[in-house]
Amino acid sequence: MRGPKDFLSLADWPAEELRTILARAHELKRLHRRGEPVQTLCGRTLAMYFEKPSLRTHVTFEAGMTQLGGHAIVLLPEQVGIGTRESPQDVARNLSRWVHGILARTFDHALVETLAAAAEIPVINGLTDLLHPCQAMADMQTVTERADLEKAVIAYVGDGNNVANSLLNAIAVLGGTLRLATPATHQPLLAVRRRAEELARHSGARISWSPDPVEAVRGADFVYTDVWTSMGQEEEAERRRALFEPFQLNTRLLRHAPEALVMHCLPAHRGEEISDDVLDGPRSIVLDQAENRLHAQKAILERLLAATR
Ligand code: CP
Ligand code: NVA
Repeated sequence: MRGPKDFLSLADWPAEELRTILARAHELKRLHRRGEPVQTLCGRTLAMYFEKPSLRTHVTFEAGMTQLGGHAIVLLPEQVGIGTRESPQDVARNLSRWVHGILARTFDHALVETLAAAAEIPVINGLTDLLHPCQAMADMQTVTERADLEKAVIAYVGDGNNVANSLLNAIAVLGGTLRLATPATHQPLLAVRRRAEELARHSGARISWSPDPVEAVRGADFVYTDVWTSMGQEEEAERRRALFEPFQLNTRLLRHAPEALVMHCLPAHRGEEISDDVLDGPRSIVLDQAENRLHAQKAILERLLAATR
């Protein structure tokens, strides 16, 4: 089984490889729930570099490494000084001599690509301004726990951001139906959409966009949203609140999708992109998504780190 060295974008990965990782994620979840130890990464170390805050990504990667018999080290920008104290290439080359993988959460997507190009070890994208592939893998695990991905209708409503881009990549590679509703000015990036169209020709994925959230969610099986103001965009928050207001996921919008389950990558800005009653309501599966970060990423870690060194 061969895929890329790194886990930067789902668009780089063959569908079969992603399906194998997802199948292992389901298995790892079953084993975890039965309390059966899985020690596939004994003696392996993951360096985790965070330029932005994190709860889920930090805890699930660190706990995931511990549970698999390995270890994780957190590195913060002020400690490492990438680009000021030392070049990203030199940091990547040094880490390659000590540890078995790098997880990086950065603003600029180009930085994870630079780290990956210089590193001899796998680099995993733990969220950039452009993409959030590990989230999308946990989301695919969550959807496939409840539905056949090929038949499910997933609607994404709100900002065409990193989470939307990776969801688009996931469906484009794996197949399925994704209906996006965003303001015309905030669609997923053109380059991401073009690549998704190409991938969809192979997978048979059905991807559509509309400026109308009602049209997107009508009869959907899953309705997904994410924050209107992502990390790093705080100065635009007020303008964004006004622009995205018609896209709020609330009971009124959900009336058009009476069977739909509600998804959100978290953290949520309650009262902005999603109302409290919907986020906390019986149709919400947001904590399943959060739980599955652990299992999906353990499967990614096994796939990438078990093979190195
Ligand atoms: N969903 C997600 O990535 O959460 P964190 O920002 O807390 O890691
Ligand atoms: N779009 C959000 C996702 C957080 C997990 C952000 O980038 O802040």
